[in-house]
Amino acid sequence: MTRILVTGGAGYVGSHTTLHLLRAGHEVLSYDNYANSSSEVLRRVAELAGRAPEIVEGDVCDRKTLDAVMARFDPEAVIHFAGLKAVGQSVKKPLSYYWNNVTGTQNLLESMQEHGCRRIVFSSSATVYGEARYLPIDEDHPIAPTNPYGRTKAFVEGIIGDWCHAWPEASAVLLRYFNPVGADASGRIGEDPNGTPENLVPYIARVAANRLEKLGVFGDDYDTRDGTGERDYIHVSDLAEAHLSALTYACRSSGCEAINVGTGRGATVFEMLKAFEATIGREIPYEVLPRRSGDVARSLAAVQRAESLLGWRAHHDIADMCASTWHWQSCNPDGYGA
Ligand code: NAD
Ligand code: UFG
Repeated sequence: MTRILVTGGAGYVGSHTTLHLLRAGHEVLSYDNYANSSSEVLRRVAELAGRAPEIVEGDVCDRKTLDAVMARFDPEAVIHFAGLKAVGQSVKKPLSYYWNNVTGTQNLLESMQEHGCRRIVFSSSATVYGEARYLPIDEDHPIAPTNPYGRTKAFVEGIIGDWCHAWPEASAVLLRYFNPVGADASGRIGEDPNGTPENLVPYIARVAANRLEKLGVFGDDYDTRDGTGERDYIHVSDLAEAHLSALTYACRSSGCEAINVGTGRGATVFEMLKAFEATIGREIPYEVLPRRSGDVARSLAAVQRAESLLGWRAHHDIADMCASTWHWQSCNPDGYGA
């Protein structure tokens, strides 16, 4: 595999994956409209990799630009990260989510097919499972998303499945990420959410950096070890490697396969907070608040399919996740904005 089109290559997961692809010797073209990122990210990726990806500013909903890129770059595979991902915002602006995530993917698949590109790795999410009916959650768990964002992911999974069914040479891997956190060990790239972070780890990092006053813990009365929500956090560098393994798999198979990407181990909010405190060597202020609507008590991945089909497993632990997040946060107090 050499030429990989990466949509959303300037985003959090896309930038880490682009770095790993470049380091592995692939030719990469990043296609991003910078709706939630900046081109500075790719400048840093190039500096870290010692060589640059090709960069095109474009929207996956813009078929003309996409077709021009497909015709010129002639990718052997696409890794499709581009899309909107904020659950709360998706409730307020559902059509924008259906447009970017669903129509955007449909456009992309049409363009791929027209240009003979038959392999795709898609960023799906554990959110497609909704409330866990059993744990750990395997890939055969019912799909029952509880918000518009999750529904876009479930619809896209279905569309890609149908596309593969209709084109027997096509091959797709739907990677269902659990909770990606952490940053590249260099501290040069990381997660840089706009405004106040909605997710736990970026929020803790900003409290630790004195940019926010205290963490609000959303509920301590769940049926978990300590009453706080439990999640399967996965280091973004492990997640990046999972994409490389998925590409290899897509090259030697056909059909559509959904695969969980997690560690199989969970951490509660209090455990994550303690781990971060251990990293920075001081206490992090918090207060317990009511539960956040739509949250589930526990989410844990069954990881056997990733191990057996991709030969991939996570290596980084919670301490690595906290240390790399803190390294990124302290080297870049204003994210990419500095
Ligand atoms: P991100 O917002 O950092 O990256 C997405 C990138 O896509 C951004 O650079 C953005 O500018 C770009 N983009 C958005 N809409 C676009 C469009 N219409 N055309 C072209 N580019 C567009 O998000 P991320 O955390 O890197 O997530 C990447 C993918 O993984 C997303 O599809 C997301 O839904 C999925 N995912 C993320 C998580 C998570 O917690 N980070 C969990 C599960 C799944
Ligand atoms: N939490 C807090 N305080 C905060 C933020 C979060 O206590 O300020 C708690 C939540 O209640 C939950 C845990 O921390 O128990 C993790 O919450 P996140 O918001 O970090 O992550 P979620 O599991 O809610 O959701 C994330 C992404 C979704 C994705 C899902 C599964 O936001 O888009 O992981 O991949 F679908």
